[in-house]
Amino acid sequence: MASDDSRQPNGKNSDNAHKHGPREASGWVRRFLGGVRAGGDILDVACGGGRHLRLALDQGYRVTGIDRDVSKLDDLAERRDVSLIEADLEAGHPFPLRELRYDGVIVTNYLWRPILSEIVGCVADDGLLIYETFAAGHERLGRPCSPDFLLNNNELLEAVMPKLTVVAFEHGVRRGARPKIVQRVAACGPDHDWAGSEHIHLSDH
Ligand SMILES: C[S@@+](CC[C@H](N)C(=O)[O-])C[C@H]1O[C@@H](n2cnc3c(N)ncnc32)[C@H](O)[C@@H]1O
Repeated sequence: MASDDSRQPNGKNSDNAHKHGPREASGWVRRFLGGVRAGGDILDVACGGGRHLRLALDQGYRVTGIDRDVSKLDDLAERRDVSLIEADLEAGHPFPLRELRYDGVIVTNYLWRPILSEIVGCVADDGLLIYETFAAGHERLGRPCSPDFLLNNNELLEAVMPKLTVVAFEHGVRRGARPKIVQRVAACGPDHDWAGSEHIHLSDH
């Protein structure tokens, strides 16, 4: 499901952004990315134009991006620290990377419930999940409005809690030129430093 999160700072939608999401990295991803083991492997599910792959590469991670269309990532294709997988995640198959484990898993502006638990399962025992997408209530503001593509109250909590420790969770309005209702979670595996709360430094914002 390609959710519509494409408004540029000038208020216009670029075609690429419309197809692949906004270009600026999510503040939620920026906030928690440093919790992924230095130099580790990061998976970005439905990576779009690769805004978070690029951010992670800039910070020294190796990255894997999976999307049904990776054509906007041609400039990264030859890099040794990049793997790109073109796959339809909604074709009724299990999640193709379900047997693998990653130090970091990022999902933004994407939801396909049949594979949600398998995505969570890709987080290594010392890994970190960073997930943010549209949530219940957003249907009153615009697209996406189908309940299939909007997280229910507490849904990310329920999805991660059997396996991961929740570090941060929010569900509310992201203000701006185009307000959105989003739900987001950062959650780590049992062997991650943040699973012991003395290692978490809280911010005041
Ligand atoms: C709104 S964009 C988000 C892109 C990126 N996560 C971001 O936040 O910048 C949604 C992405 O989901 C991908 N997508 C939609 N349906 C898909 C499917 N069936 N299989 C794989 N990817 C899909 C689209 O190609 C698109 O890149």
